Amino acid sequence: MAHESMETVAKEFPVDAGVDRTDRKKLAKMLTRIVGSSHVLYAKTRGVHWNVVGPAFYSLHKMTEEHYEDLNTAVDDMAERIRAIGFAAPIGISEMIENSVIDDQKKLLPAHEMVKDLVEDHEKMARLMREGVAAADEVEDVKTADLLTERIGVHEEAAWMLRATIS
Ligand SMILES: [Fe+2]
Repeated sequence: MAHESMETVAKEFPVDAGVDRTDRKKLAKMLTRIVGSSHVLYAKTRGVHWNVVGPAFYSLHKMTEEHYEDLNTAVDDMAERIRAIGFAAPIGISEMIENSVIDDQKKLLPAHEMVKDLVEDHEKMARLMREGVAAADEVEDVKTADLLTERIGVHEEAAWMLRATIS
């Protein structure tokens, strides 16, 4: 027998923690772009981790592992933030890709080209995070602003590290 009274599909729920619904909805949309982008970058980073060859193999293999592990944790935190402000988080890969500002890696390229792409992607992420912080600040969602501010530095550092290996 179906438990009709038991709601098991995530949907918007009321939140009264100091930020208006309209503002939270806008932020949820921004966070969805950020989560989608971070997820695509996570997958792309693993692609480099697995396929990198050449003199920088060991350092790039290790570095990309640190980066995708960080992205994995960050995606989780940011998707859960969407839930905490009352909205549904992305449900699958298609939704992640649709909302991503990062292009999926579709073919294997020489290592330095893929790493150069990652550098640009991390810089793109830093810019997206800045937009996110501005949007969160505007509605005084200090928690979201805090979460995203932290991410700016992480992406800037990742861009620097990756760039240094191919310089
Ligand atoms: Fe591995």
